[in-house]
Amino acid sequence: VGFYAERVFPWLLDRAMNHPVLESLTREALAPAAGDVLEIGFGTARSLPLYGPGVASLTAIEPNQGMSARAQRRLAAARFPVHLHAGAGEALPFATAGFETVTLILTLCSVRDPAAVLAEARRVLKPGGQLLYLEHGVSRSARWQVWQRRFDPLQQILGCGCTFLRDPSALVAAAGFTHQRQQERVVQEMPGLAEMLPLTLGQATV
Ligand SMILES: C[S@@+](CC[C@H](N)C(=O)[O-])C[C@H]1O[C@@H](n2cnc3c(N)ncnc32)[C@H](O)[C@@H]1O
Repeated sequence: VGFYAERVFPWLLDRAMNHPVLESLTREALAPAAGDVLEIGFGTARSLPLYGPGVASLTAIEPNQGMSARAQRRLAAARFPVHLHAGAGEALPFATAGFETVTLILTLCSVRDPAAVLAEARRVLKPGGQLLYLEHGVSRSARWQVWQRRFDPLQQILGCGCTFLRDPSALVAAAGFTHQRQQERVVQEMPGLAEMLPLTLGQATV
């Protein structure tokens, strides 16, 4: 992890994600979060003030120390206990069946092995537990898919591994989750960028 990934990218991400529409969609995705919650790919803790009132505690995991450093000021203002761990979603350092909710906010695009992360999310969820996510993915439009493929190598460099080309709801279903909600949104307030980053908001149970 170099200077760009640890210093520039967290700063950039904090600014790029500071869009009111993205904030309201994240709030909507996280509204059903309840009980002991695990967030995978915590970033700069942008999600923290957007959780609803049902959260008892939040455990978060994030591999990039530069992200976690920027998260500190938000941790201080949390309304519930927060435990931040260094590590990756592919090998969660948590006991089986320990959480009521697992959340993923714009993270499946960036992990090395999304199937392994989702299998770990299933493992740590209690029976009947829920996965909540807001993820961007591959466009349903063939025309925009061409642009996504064209720009993906650059996106992976600038976004520290982030790809345009995954299908988040298909990955969640393939991991054995059952969707209660799966809604795709092209955010018209971000013209051009919106079609490159179509969003899926999902709620699924084990
Ligand atoms: C686009 S950022 C989103 C951060 C945050 N969820 C947000 O919405 O602001 C993707 C995050 O996933 C993290 N990440 C990358 N690989 C990961 C992995 N294998 N396991 C967990 N998190 C990972 C990155 O370090 C980064 O913080």
